[in-house]
Amino acid sequence: MTTNALITGWGMYVPSRVMTNDDLAKIVDTSDEWIVSRTGIRERRVVGRDDSTTSLATAAARMALERAGRKAEEIDLIVVGTATPDDFLVSQSCLVQGELGGNAGAFDVGAACAGFVTALSAGTQFVNAGVYQRALVIGVDTLTRYVDYTDRSTCVLFGDGAGAVVIERTDEPRGLLSTVLGADGAGHKHLYVPGWGALVPESAELFPEYRPSLQMNGKEVFRFAVGVMGDAAAEAVQRAGLCFDDVDMLIPHQANLRIIDAAARRLELPREKVWVNVDRYGNTSAASVPIALNEAAEAGCLDEGDNVVLVAFGAGLAWAAGVVRWGTAGVGAAGR
Ligand code: ACO
Repeated sequence: MTTNALITGWGMYVPSRVMTNDDLAKIVDTSDEWIVSRTGIRERRVVGRDDSTTSLATAAARMALERAGRKAEEIDLIVVGTATPDDFLVSQSCLVQGELGGNAGAFDVGAACAGFVTALSAGTQFVNAGVYQRALVIGVDTLTRYVDYTDRSTCVLFGDGAGAVVIERTDEPRGLLSTVLGADGAGHKHLYVPGWGALVPESAELFPEYRPSLQMNGKEVFRFAVGVMGDAAAEAVQRAGLCFDDVDMLIPHQANLRIIDAAARRLELPREKVWVNVDRYGNTSAASVPIALNEAAEAGCLDEGDNVVLVAFGAGLAWAAGVVRWGTAGVGAAGR
């Protein structure tokens, strides 16, 4: 008998502060028309002084736990996908666990915007292998803290947020049915934050006031994303033993509407089968897919047995995709 990890709870949290395209046009040379036509983004949420990666992630996690009817003490493992942990020594997952309570094992996954799908895959492997009964998987980022608000080619793209799911052991064919992970590390300088990590850049000595900020070759990242999102999603469908007609919903990373449309075309999906919220949140990095998943579920757009394709790309360059068989029924003998 095979064991799977079905999603029993989901949650999200975004900061209350809204930054519209018109707000950005007041601080940098851009316009609502340019941003909407090139990206589909109309506004994004931005962390304030009292927010942190930990506070966002914890709020989303509490919502997911409540929906699953679980206490933190019942969780065996916490996996957080993030590129913006509050601390570089203590893992973000430990910081969240400290807030929630319990003694779950805790580790982070570093795959930038592909972080949540990669973390979901990691958590699922522990449950499927019978090592753990249930896990909390979180995607969270506060990338606006590392955005250069004088660089119009990047500052318009990003927002902050968190999304989370609880996965639990089941004998039913539910949860993540397939996984596709890939990377092209040779392209890492197309999207990175120079001087952010342990590598000391020359600039640290030459310019002590240097503040790390995200640098991106937008055209290269766009070209990469348009190809890889569709291909990875298609491979995930095939690995799940399905065909495109079997796909009920595509939940793509929300970076750019043109990239989302390209992925949908590759899977031959009409727009109504693609969840889009990039207009309201922009690119929330690792939080993007779980926020969209949460919204689709809350809107009643995911039915028992639906095949939901998750796909994301990001810095690395990395990508991750998978097919989730949706459903909350089936936490049977194996799960409870
Ligand atoms: N407002 C007005 N003009 C702008 C802006 C802006 N915000 N940004 C750039 N421009 C200008 C450029 O300077 C350029 O002007 P020029 O022709 O005089 O030089 C012109 O607009 C066209 O610029 P392009 O770069 O060709 O615009 P493009 O259509 O490629 O769109 C974009 C740029 C939106 C950044 C696109 O390349 C893109 O979406 N790339 C992918 C980015 C992405 O998804 N990154 C996130 C990865 S996920 C992660 O891990 C964080």
